Amino acid sequence: MPKARYLHLADTLARAIQKGKLTPGTKLPTHRAFAEQFGIALATATRVYGELERRGLVVGEAGRGTFVRDLGLPITLGAHQTANDGLVDLVFNMPGDAGDADILRAGLRKLATAGDLEAMLRYQPHGGRLHERRIIAESLDASLGSVDPECLLVTSGGQHGLAITALGLLRAGDFVAVDPLTYPGFKSVCALQGLNIVPIEGRAGVMDPDALDRHCHTRDIKAVYLMPTVHSPLGAVMDEVTRLRLIDVARKHDLLIIEDAAYAFLEPSPPKTFLSMVPERTVHVGGFSKSIATGLRLGYVIAPQTHIERLVEVIRATTWNAPALISGLVTGWIEDGTLAASTETRRRDGATRQRICRATMGDIPILSHHNAGFAWLPLDPALRADPIVSQLKEKGISVSGAASFATTLAVPQALRLAFGGVPIEELSGLLGTVRDALHKAQAD
Ligand SMILES: Cc1ncc(COP(=O)(O)O)c(C=O)c1O
Repeated sequence: MPKARYLHLADTLARAIQKGKLTPGTKLPTHRAFAEQFGIALATATRVYGELERRGLVVGEAGRGTFVRDLGLPITLGAHQTANDGLVDLVFNMPGDAGDADILRAGLRKLATAGDLEAMLRYQPHGGRLHERRIIAESLDASLGSVDPECLLVTSGGQHGLAITALGLLRAGDFVAVDPLTYPGFKSVCALQGLNIVPIEGRAGVMDPDALDRHCHTRDIKAVYLMPTVHSPLGAVMDEVTRLRLIDVARKHDLLIIEDAAYAFLEPSPPKTFLSMVPERTVHVGGFSKSIATGLRLGYVIAPQTHIERLVEVIRATTWNAPALISGLVTGWIEDGTLAASTETRRRDGATRQRICRATMGDIPILSHHNAGFAWLPLDPALRADPIVSQLKEKGISVSGAASFATTLAVPQALRLAFGGVPIEELSGLLGTVRDALHKAQAD
């Protein structure tokens, strides 16, 4: 059967996009103009554009037109397949929603009307502009207690915050205590800096203070890395009693506490932070990736005054300063309530996704936070994750096992599902496929 005309045209355009003849951001003609150009019906032109959108090659923006996507970037909403391998991506957590571009447009418009715009084109203070540090510090007050803006440094994302902490405050060869399952980005910082990670036993993402104490007697541990409020990948929120006991151990062995708050905003009633309880030995690292947009690369580090000079030195050596355009955008969103609204939307969206996950998985055990866009499925000890991951790949779904999160030699058997970025209407079907693969593995 000859190929339908609309598919033929879609293929031709797809080739032009894939070969880079149509570059990212190029605006395609209106459906009507396209129809006239090729002598086809308007409905056929609409089908061509629909097909390109379905393949993740273009994006339609209401009232503005259709644009060529950047194929080097993973897709979030609107289409969920990664452009490179055609798999549905449940590996990377990429929250986002269709309104994000509108938020960006409004933010940029507001920024463009700000006074002294030219100042943003210059080098900035390494730790950020003081008035913006103040805005960020004040926005955090509710959860962290009072934060001195002089002790808050603006970084190029939370990952940069972790890197400058490790580079500035620890030395190659130092021992750092971590959870048996931890954030892979912190593992890579440690590997790069030659730090030795020491996995400390705990319960589902909550470190056991007695185990930390025992390890401190056998090794000269310098720091402990924790995600106490919404652990990644397990979603746990550490209770206050455990926090207080960990603080006792940290005092006893003179440990630096690195408190990663990347997902803390998801917890509506968090216990007190380590920063608020032991500011003199805590470096608190946060960012705006998860609450508003991953691509902004804006974060912050709050540290004791005694460490600030050293951290500033590392910012100077790495990025010089976080871009003022971005910090201006984000602090504008803090001031006009956009960030608070986005945070609330993310929590609600995460909660809906968790409900879909639990309803779909039935009695399969799940570890997660009730507002998070990710979940951890520990497997029955008789099962292995690898064959299930491969089987799901054959069905077009990419999920990960525990290896990238594990700090122990024996990698636990588990599946990690990051579903914050897939279209919500497809979630139940996708998770149903995962559930069926798990049931099949159990039956085999
Ligand atoms: C636990 C945790 N910490 C820190 C980060 C770094 O986030 P960013 O650099 O995007 O602010 C991430 C990102 O995935 C994370 O999951």
